[in-house]
Amino acid sequence: MNILLTGASGQLGQELLPRLQPLGQVSCIDRAVSADDCVTLREDLADLNRVEILLNRMRPELIVNAAAYTAVDRAETETEPAFRINAELPGCLARWCARNDRLLMHYSTDYVFSGEARAPYREEDPTGPLSVYGESKLAGECAITASGCRHLVLRTSWVYSGHGNNFVLTMLRLARERPKLNIVADQVGRPTWARNLARVSATLLEKAAGNPAGFDRWGIWHYCDSGVVSWYDFACAIFDAALETGLLSRLPSLTAVPTSGFPQAAKRPLYSVLDTTAIREAFGIEPAGLQASLHECIVEIQKNDE
Ligand SMILES: NC(=O)c1ccc[n+]([C@@H]2O[C@H](COP(=O)([O-])OP(=O)(O)OC[C@H]3O[C@@H](n4cnc5c(N)ncnc54)[C@H](OP(=O)(O)O)[C@@H]3O)[C@@H](O)[C@H]2O)c1
Repeated sequence: MNILLTGASGQLGQELLPRLQPLGQVSCIDRAVSADDCVTLREDLADLNRVEILLNRMRPELIVNAAAYTAVDRAETETEPAFRINAELPGCLARWCARNDRLLMHYSTDYVFSGEARAPYREEDPTGPLSVYGESKLAGECAITASGCRHLVLRTSWVYSGHGNNFVLTMLRLARERPKLNIVADQVGRPTWARNLARVSATLLEKAAGNPAGFDRWGIWHYCDSGVVSWYDFACAIFDAALETGLLSRLPSLTAVPTSGFPQAAKRPLYSVLDTTAIREAFGIEPAGLQASLHECIVEIQKNDE
């Protein structure tokens, strides 16, 4: 199978590449340098005419779109680029897939919800994004659905990995720089290791791409690792794991603060918990555990630091 991976240098993209390679011949489009063992076109995905030309030339049987505009606060002022990458690009990929009978895998976010619920969000629950980022990701989902292409969209939350911009690496950096940290304690969610999301993606794609005509479970699914925590709880878990592995030798003192005590440009949902029952019932996919995943990720970060 001829597979196109976008966003190959991102948190998820880096984890996807080795897990897609057993499924076929992977080519990447990205702005940065990617792995040596796949063809990478350095292109700006914001140029949709160029994307269309590339698709017609490459003719992938499967597109895995891990590219996204993920700067949640900056999106409040950079609305146009956020919508271009998060909404128009997926729409363009999806319409090409629909016209050419190809498959699309795409990723979305817990931030499509308002966070006013008191029970985990299911796939069919009403959306209500609070931020430009959330609106742009929701618009991407809608464009894909409207295209009529065969698609799998995985909504996920609080993604971390050993590279890129994420809460784990930020906490580890701040712990070395500051003696005291204020951490938000009234937003809760399900942190998800990018590697686990990549593994789940590969599992779904094996089932879907192996028999696209017989596969009847296209659509939007929720996947996150298990464990509902606040950012404060998550920081404590990160520091526990970092102490245990020896990555940190002393910890900053932590103060739990409300969202109002930590002003940010974009509003975040307070209750950002996705329900993963559907993906478990349909595909037998159990969420990976937070503690074990975090520990493994931190061991890797430590190895990379050495
Ligand atoms: N991060 C989270 O906490 C989180 C939470 C929920 C859902 N998600 C979703 O999960 C998916 C993966 O997120 P991630 O954390 O892996 O994102 P990421 O680390 O920010 O990676 C995004 C990738 O997209 C590329 N990209 C963005 N704009 C581009 C452009 N104009 N041209 C070419 N490449 C471009 C980036 O390249 P550059 O580095 O060159 O910009 C990067 O390789 C996304 O759909 C995201 O919305 C993420």
